[in-house]
Amino acid sequence: MNQKARVLIVDDDVVMAKYLAAHLSRRNFEVTVASSHQEALRVFRSFDPVLVLVEVSLDEASTETLQRLKQIKPGVSLIVLSASKDPEFIFKASKLGADDYLSKPVDPNELDVRIGKVMDHQRHYHEVTQLREQVRRQSDFTMLFGTSPKMMEVKTTIEQVADTTATVLVRGESGTGKEVVARMIYSESSRGDKPFVKVNCAAIPHELLESELFGYEAGAFTGANRQKLGKFEQANGGTIFLDEISEMHPALQAKLLHVLQDREFSRLGGKRDIQVDVRVLAATNKPLERAVEEGVFREDLFYRLNVVTIHIPPLRERREEIPVFLKYFLEKYSEHYGKKPAMFGEYAIARMMEYAWPGNIRELENLVKRYVIVGNEAQIIRELSTHKPIVASFGSSVPSLPATADPVSTPPVQAGSNGVEMEMPSLLEIGRRAAMQAEREAIERVLAQTRWNRRQAAKILKISYKALLNKLKAMEEQTKAQAKHDEG
Ligand SMILES: Nc1ncnc2c1ncn2[C@@H]1O[C@H](COP(=O)(O)OP(=O)(O)OP(=O)(O)O)[C@@H](O)[C@H]1O
Ligand SMILES: [Mg+2]
Repeated sequence: MNQKARVLIVDDDVVMAKYLAAHLSRRNFEVTVASSHQEALRVFRSFDPVLVLVEVSLDEASTETLQRLKQIKPGVSLIVLSASKDPEFIFKASKLGADDYLSKPVDPNELDVRIGKVMDHQRHYHEVTQLREQVRRQSDFTMLFGTSPKMMEVKTTIEQVADTTATVLVRGESGTGKEVVARMIYSESSRGDKPFVKVNCAAIPHELLESELFGYEAGAFTGANRQKLGKFEQANGGTIFLDEISEMHPALQAKLLHVLQDREFSRLGGKRDIQVDVRVLAATNKPLERAVEEGVFREDLFYRLNVVTIHIPPLRERREEIPVFLKYFLEKYSEHYGKKPAMFGEYAIARMMEYAWPGNIRELENLVKRYVIVGNEAQIIRELSTHKPIVASFGSSVPSLPATADPVSTPPVQAGSNGVEMEMPSLLEIGRRAAMQAEREAIERVLAQTRWNRRQAAKILKISYKALLNKLKAMEEQTKAQAKHDEG
């Protein structure tokens, strides 16, 4: 136990931060300071602290930072520092994931006591995490089966293949439940107590995806200071789920094919082959056959993956399941939000039965969630009747349905009219922010890798040099705006 516990201090008050850093260094912690929330998120990943002391004011930036930190590393402890002593504030901070709260100016003795408590709690957390993980596996990803013949077939196939090591390709439109199926296969297999590692092949640029999947040796490229294990090694003994496999770059497809054939690969910059025992599950919502025809997906890999294929039908082809899902999600979210809304009326259900559901189960789930929160059935009916998908990014595959007269003439719901939107940004907004954040992180990682050679970075990111410069400018402006916002 000679490795020091790492603590990150986030405070734009440099003097305070330095003072706390010096104090904690004397307590034998390894300390790093970040002077803004943006910087904090960056440093957090590489420094990987066990504890963060973060000064917040509960504006949007602080709120996001707290949530992001816990998302990136659920086991991290967060102690919030603030000039505010408002109980409402403390309550809000704790809801956002803060483990403890200290008012500024910070009393060092009090700090020692609180850190001791938080660290105790953390040890306990790690002990129960494994247990909780097991329970979560069973509850979070429960798969509900309706009664349609097509889903019965899906169920039978899952039962047949789950406890084998066969590679399974799960296909279906967006939101049909591909991931749910993959997790069910995993949890029903004898590997159910081993790791389940998910990789979204579309979310990571391909040069990074390679190191993500296969890991690298120290010195493999600039910035590779120490060895890093890839997802395949993390999944050893368990299951890897390659989501959106159609987006994998052909160069990587070759390497994946090799792993599927021989269960071995080498880390980037590594000389020796590494053997792994990993069950591979993959998912796609794109027609892979067409990708093969177009030459962007290797045919041999397609056949390797296609040993067992599960097609999940879109919701509109199993409409009889709609009432079952409605009831299921209504119960789930009523409990979750502690509310008791009435079951949808006949008229609403009839509208749902004729709606196209371009976003499939996910769209239906979101609709129920909104209904539970807002409790306004008329609004739901309006949305369905005008065929406006609830999430605007479902694409254009909405088949047109006979126009339904709208007998419920409620005015459109104003944003913020009931306060709900303030707590909960729209899904569109959440998606936009997540996309921006993912883009920013990818750009920063590539720039670090190329030592800020922007031309080279643009190449890796497969965008034009000019487009990268524009993005950097936009990022800089965003950072400035954020800083201003933080000050004000
Ligand atoms: N049979 C089911 N039982 C319970 N929940 C389901 C079922 N099918 C889908 N869902 C829910 O619908 C949502 C979408 O499911 P999932 O993420 O598995 O879809 P997907 O096909 O992977 O979508 P995408 O292509 O967009 O990634 C999730 O919240 C999931 O819990
Ligand atoms: Mg998915």
